[in-house]
Amino acid sequence: MPFVSFEGVDGAGKSTHVNWLAEQLRAHGKTVTVTREPGGTPLGEALRSVLLNQTMSADTELLLMFAARAEHLAQVIRPALARGEWVLSDRFTDASYAYQCGGRGIAENRLRILETWVQQGLQPDITLLFDVDLEIARERRAAQGEPDRFEREQQAFFERVRAVYLQRAQAEPRRIRVIRTDRTLEAIRTELLHMFASWWQV
Ligand code: TMP
Repeated sequence: MPFVSFEGVDGAGKSTHVNWLAEQLRAHGKTVTVTREPGGTPLGEALRSVLLNQTMSADTELLLMFAARAEHLAQVIRPALARGEWVLSDRFTDASYAYQCGGRGIAENRLRILETWVQQGLQPDITLLFDVDLEIARERRAAQGEPDRFEREQQAFFERVRAVYLQRAQAEPRRIRVIRTDRTLEAIRTELLHMFASWWQV
């Protein structure tokens, strides 16, 4: 069954869409696993708390993201796909390319080695990239209370993150669909329903 990941810079508003799409799928009789990264397992959630709060080197950050992902794949994603469920993940490996390579400057070939090792060829079937004006994203983050270690980054960091996301969407247009968020919620939902209409039958 399809494995769908949701991406975007902090403040893009993707998480609301994850839950909404899960409801739509369930209404069509699908069994859906909704999960997130970093996180999704007890160990992954513990690593998430470390990643979002503690100072660490960029290499450590990347390795912990992939440690959480290895556990997530083993405990949640692969078993759910094997049971024939839909899997909706709030972030996956595109976030590592965008944040750790784009944002932090780690060489992509390092990440590729981890990706090959941990994923063994498994990729999302579809990735929805919620693209937002960075100023709007900044205002949303500011309205959300205490920022975490990533949310405290400068705009230049988010510009690099966004640029990598968009480059990846250009390189893989069949998998990564850019969803413009400078529209009403209604318009975004209509686009998503249209996109997934052929999959309801799956
Ligand atoms: P969230 O706020 O969307 O739940 O994501 C938590 C943060 O983790 C977000 O700022 C992006 C960051 N992140 C990475 O830097 N690399 C990754 O591989 C993942 C999955 C998330």
